[in-house]
This record gives sequence, structure tokens and C-alpha cells, in this order.
Amino acid sequence: MTKALVTGCAGFIGSHLTQRLLSEGVTVIGVDGFLDNYDVAAKLRNLGEIGNHPAFTFHSAMLQAQRWKDWLDGVDVVYHLAALPGVRNSWGKAFADYVNHNVLATQMLLEACLQQPKPPTVVVSSSSSVYGTMQGTFTDETAPLRPVSPYGVTKEAMEQICQVYVKAYGLRVTMLRYFTVYGPRQRPDMAFHRFIRQLLKGEQVVVYGNGQQSRDFTYVSDAVEANLLAARHALPGEIFNVGGDREIKLLDVLAIMGSLLNVTPKIVFQQGPAGDSLRTCADIQLARTRLGYRPKVTLEEGLRLQLADMRAQAKG
Ligand code: UGA
Repeated sequence: MTKALVTGCAGFIGSHLTQRLLSEGVTVIGVDGFLDNYDVAAKLRNLGEIGNHPAFTFHSAMLQAQRWKDWLDGVDVVYHLAALPGVRNSWGKAFADYVNHNVLATQMLLEACLQQPKPPTVVVSSSSSVYGTMQGTFTDETAPLRPVSPYGVTKEAMEQICQVYVKAYGLRVTMLRYFTVYGPRQRPDMAFHRFIRQLLKGEQVVVYGNGQQSRDFTYVSDAVEANLLAARHALPGEIFNVGGDREIKLLDVLAIMGSLLNVTPKIVFQQGPAGDSLRTCADIQLARTRLGYRPKVTLEEGLRLQLADMRAQAKG
């Protein structure tokens, strides 16, 4: 592979993926519309980390601007990360924006890929939120989809529209269901970012619900690796869970954070916004066998890295 398009290249996962591709000698076209779901300055900082790499061309635009001639020319692989993320803000009027950025924009991208003389491979970022609250032990990709947030509904719809293009036209699209990704540059609305920021400032940590909810947290470099592996090995229409090293309760994560920082977190429990899954736990057997995916970064190590990054940012 020589040339890639990364949509959402200034975002959390997108910026890490772009850096990794450039480090492997891939020419990268990056597109980002700077949605204002969080401080745009943080996205500019993410871009700053990519730097002025000679093999990187950046386009500041929404996908809806449809400048496909600039973006898709000669591209072998599209990594589609542009989206409006976050489960808890997707209610009410915001839902129309979620549909626009997560479903309609994806369909425009698929249509444009189809028009290329040699349609690229497309790796699409989906989410564990399509499952809702998980039952049983581990959840594999055949589990029923029962999203509990409007955001999860848009991610499910996004997957469905991809499958339609696979079935009708044989477009080489594969989908990755990430499980709560964390690490340096994590979105500021996400739990680890908020907890670490509060702990560094000596503030109370706000936990939604009783803290007994659990997640399978995935370190960002593992999510990036899954993208590369999917581009290389996945077949059209395949969907993979991308999880981390284990399932853990939120309060147990806070205990680890406390010991890394040598503090006892002062926790205040609040009723959380609707839309939260109570439990996620990824069966990653399919990604292991089909892609060779193995999460490499333990939660303890990943937290250490995110903490170090946020400390450095705080010092400016
Ligand atoms: C995250 C992302 O925000 C979604 O965009 C993504 O699709 C999803 O992961 C996924 O791919 O699985 P979420 O699991 O809710 O969603 O991740 P966090 O925002 O890190 O929240 C984790 C848990 O911490 C949730 O139960 C949440 O309610 C809780 N939380 C969050 C708090 O207790 N306090 C906070 O201040 C923030």
C-alpha cells in the first residue's frame, strides 16, 4: 500500500493512525472538518503532532464538501474515522447531526469510492455501542445489536449502509467495532481524560451511576494496529471487535489511577446521562484468527502513558 486517505485525521484515533502510516512510508491524504464536539484547539494540537511531514497533505473540510478528486485520486486504502462521536450527547436535536456525520457522510464516501477507476479498500470505524449492554461472558460479532443510545443507532446504520455497498457492488469495505479507546490525545469528554484531569487538579472525580459499570478499554495503538491489519487481511463485509486486555469496572480503574498518582480519588457519584451501556466485553477471537490482532498494551501501561501525556500537556 502506498497511498491512504484518513478521514478525521485531526481526531484522537485518526491522528495516531496518520502518524503510524507516515512512519511506515505511506503517503497520506488527511481530511478533517473540525467539528466542534470539543475544543478545536485540541484537534489542531493533534495535527501539530503529525507535523509537516512531506508525505502528508491536509484538507480542512467536511466530507460533505465532496472534494473527492483531491481526496481519492490514486488512493489504495481509505481509513474512515470521521464521525460525530460520544454516546451521551446524541439525544434530542443533536441526533440529526449524528445522522448527518455518521450515516449520510459515510454513504457519500462509499458512493465516491465506487466511482474510482480502481475502488480503494475501505476500513470503517464502528463502535461497541452497536451492542448496547452486553450479556453473558464475551460478546462476539454475531451477538444481537441492541444499541442503547441514538449514537449507537447511527453506528449500526453506518454498518448497514456499508454492507449494502458490499453486497450490491463488491466494494471492499470492512468494519471495526472499537471498545472504548483511550491513551494520549483521548477526547476530553471521555472518562479517562476527565478522571485524570480532575485527579491532577486535586478535584473530585465525577462518576456516573455507581461506578460498577464495566468496559473493555482499548489502547489507541492497538486500535491503530487493527486498522492496518484490516486493510491488509480483511474480506469485504467482515466486521471485527477491537478490544483491549480485559474487562474492568470503572471503580477499579480509578483505584489504578489513584495508585499511579499516589492519591486517593475523592469520588462523587452522579446520575449519568442516558445512553450508557452498563457493560462491554469484547470477544476478539475473530480479529485474532483472521487478522492476527493481539492487543499489546495492558491497561496499567496504557494509563501510565495517558497520564504522562496529560501531565506534559498540563505543564504546557
Ligand atoms: C466511548 C466513546 O465515547 C464512544 O464514542 C465510542 O463509540 C465507545 O466508547 C465505544 O467505542 O465503545 P464510552 O464507553 O461511554 O463511549 O466511554 P467513556 O466516555 O470513556 O465512558 C466510560 C464510562 O465512564 C461510562 O460508563 C461513563 O458513563 C463513565 N463516565 C464518563 C463517568 O463516570 N464520568 C465521566 O465524567 C465520564
